[in-house]
Amino acid sequence: MQRRTLIQSAVALLGAAALPTTALGQNPSKPLVEVWKTPTCGCCKDWVKHLQDQGFAVKTYDVSELAKAARRAELGLAEKFGSCHTALVGGYVVEGHVPAQDIRKLIKERPRALGLSVPGMPIGSPGMDGPEYGGRKDAYAVLLVQRDGSSTVYQKYA
Ligand code: CU
Ligand code: CU
Repeated sequence: MQRRTLIQSAVALLGAAALPTTALGQNPSKPLVEVWKTPTCGCCKDWVKHLQDQGFAVKTYDVSELAKAARRAELGLAEKFGSCHTALVGGYVVEGHVPAQDIRKLIKERPRALGLSVPGMPIGSPGMDGPEYGGRKDAYAVLLVQRDGSSTVYQKYA
């Protein structure tokens, strides 16, 4: 009851027309990204912040290194595509420092794929772009990964 009242006030505040009639949690303009990461990794936190800044809702699960790798494997993503965090959004796997704009494009276009990956941790990618890197930018690609382990370049960053 309390929660309902809160949601109703939020709707009233924002203007009902701006929100869909479905539950707020299902707001398609603010997709939910679930993230499995280790609690101590700073770049994962910075990537989560990047997603939030870009209008995503994020739910994080702090797990051990082993459990994180197990989650990636369980979702069907090969180790060669691995990075520091594994995420799930709109039924797609998102691994590593994938820019929010590519995730938006993915869930809008809904290609036939397992998901997206930025293998490793390229410097200059979202979450790997803090002051400690002194503005350095490595070239990297966002890969569109298929269930059979094949991949194509989805987006290039120079
Ligand atoms: Cu990282
Ligand atoms: Cu990290």
